[in-house]
Amino acid sequence: MAETFIAHGRETLVVDYGDGFVIKRPLDGVSLDKKMKWICKQHAVQETIADIESVKNPLYNIPSMIHIKDTEFQVLEQRAPGQPLTVDLYKSLSKRQQIEIGNSIAALLMDMRELKPVIPDVSYKISTELKMEKFWNIISTKMPKWFNNEELSYMDKLYSYIDSVKYISPMVWSHSDLSSGNVLYDAQSSRLSFIDFADAKYQTVDHDIISPLAFDLEIYNDVYDNYVKSGYDLSGINDGNIKQTVKNRLSIILLKRLIKQGDDLRLNPKLEKTEINNANKVACIRGIIEKLQCIDKTFSK
Ligand SMILES: Nc1ncnc2c1ncn2[C@@H]1O[C@H](COP(=O)(O)OP(=O)(O)O)[C@@H](O)[C@H]1O
Ligand SMILES: [Mg+2]
Repeated sequence: MAETFIAHGRETLVVDYGDGFVIKRPLDGVSLDKKMKWICKQHAVQETIADIESVKNPLYNIPSMIHIKDTEFQVLEQRAPGQPLTVDLYKSLSKRQQIEIGNSIAALLMDMRELKPVIPDVSYKISTELKMEKFWNIISTKMPKWFNNEELSYMDKLYSYIDSVKYISPMVWSHSDLSSGNVLYDAQSSRLSFIDFADAKYQTVDHDIISPLAFDLEIYNDVYDNYVKSGYDLSGINDGNIKQTVKNRLSIILLKRLIKQGDDLRLNPKLEKTEINNANKVACIRGIIEKLQCIDKTFSK
């Protein structure tokens, strides 16, 4: 029987197995070493999923990981209904559904936080989340070819600023990769599913509240309000200024995207295709810089 492809992520290929199940495998063509790492990771993921599933919170769905076949590098998992929760899908939903989504995300964060003890007062340098060497390389060797002095000096200052940010924060057990590819929504049943717990780890408390998903859907304020209403807050973060924490978190999300685009810029394109690719990346980076500047303005008021 031919397999029906569903989707792939950075590491995983997903095919339909029928009857509400999917099979997951490492991407085609990866080395044996990568396959071994992938399957090892799945065992850790299975544990994380079992933990969070055991909470049985009706506000969201976590597809169970049923079985891992080590020798075949395969995982059998329940299929989550619906589609990746993109901005377009979110905008097409009713107000009620949109509000429920904010509630469900906050519920997952609180449930995950409760699963493992909070680690108080960790001294934290936010730049550890970025590939700073790549970032510097992009600013110093790639951007001068396409960007003006004003843009370059802005990026230079931002690099130094991010490099200097340190705070003391509680660390809480977190999903860590809340993006539209890892959150599926079925509009018919209003069912929200969280998948891909491969990056679950301790993070600063702001990390999953102001996630890339919450940023793209513009709902991080709602997620935060829900979190606070339930008695938790960001105030354990001891930089004295929550506004600053939000600004830093948004900047990190955008800078990760900028570094990804910048890394793909080719300085001496030989093919027309590469030149077109460069032009697209430059336009994208320019858009990101505008957003970063906009965030600076909003949060310095
Ligand atoms: N249980 C599932 N049910 C339905 N679709 C899934 C399921 N797991 C993954 N997918 C789809 O496959 C994509 C990649 O899977 P994911 O586990 O996120 O892999 P990666 O670690 O490579 O990001 C997801 O973005 C999603 O669209
Ligand atoms: Mg994924």
